[in-house]
Amino acid sequence: MPETKVRCLVFSGSLRTGSLNTRLAVLARRAIEAHGATVDYASMRDFDCPSYDQDAEAKGGLPPGAEAFRVRLEANDAFVIASPEYNASMPGLLKNLIDWVSRHRPQPFNERHGMLLSASPSMVGGNRGLWSLRVPLEHLGARVYPDMFSLAQAHQAFDADGGLANTELAARFQQTLAGFLDLVEAAKNYPCAKKAWVEFLGEHPNAATDRVE
Ligand SMILES: Cc1cc2nc3c(=O)[nH]c(=O)nc-3n(C[C@H](O)[C@H](O)[C@H](O)COP(=O)(O)O)c2cc1C
Repeated sequence: MPETKVRCLVFSGSLRTGSLNTRLAVLARRAIEAHGATVDYASMRDFDCPSYDQDAEAKGGLPPGAEAFRVRLEANDAFVIASPEYNASMPGLLKNLIDWVSRHRPQPFNERHGMLLSASPSMVGGNRGLWSLRVPLEHLGARVYPDMFSLAQAHQAFDADGGLANTELAARFQQTLAGFLDLVEAAKNYPCAKKAWVEFLGEHPNAATDRVE
């Protein structure tokens, strides 16, 4: 009997001690486990990589951090990232990691489900960063959940137990994750028709330029 339980990789895109995004990732872990899915909780430190360099790739393939991410991505049905917003975009280290991992074949993001969270002291909770993070992930064929949870004024949002102090917001957080997990579970157990990853769907087929799996 194949495993029907959803497996979910959860990590924060921040390396900072005391990171608000790490606190949100820990809370997501709790909510996902409470919903009955299995969590593989990771630290961004596990995935630390040098700057992407095509010469280095040609010589040695993926560096250990990118390889570790690839292996854990492939072992899970879904991923949840709690990412800081840096200068209205995603952190460079996260984009660098995505670039490295995108070089592996079969391309590991394809058909994997993703959910994006962010936390920031600002009023919009780092939501602009998630729109930029969505772009490469969707380009790579990840099924990024339409709802994104951005925790505004995050430095004041947590209670002593690590939960969200506002009970309505806490319920909304759990419901959003539950909706995502139900969709992943449905897709896992009732697979859709999509079989191939085509980087540029409308491009004329041509052996020299095709990026099709
Ligand atoms: C380089 C840099 C750029 C930042 N840019 C933004 C920004 O555009 N929007 C925002 O809401 N916060 C921005 N911040 C503040 C972060 O949201 C804040 O430091 C947050 O706590 C970082 O996430 P972390 O706590 O998970 O490390 C920036 C912080 C840094 C270090």
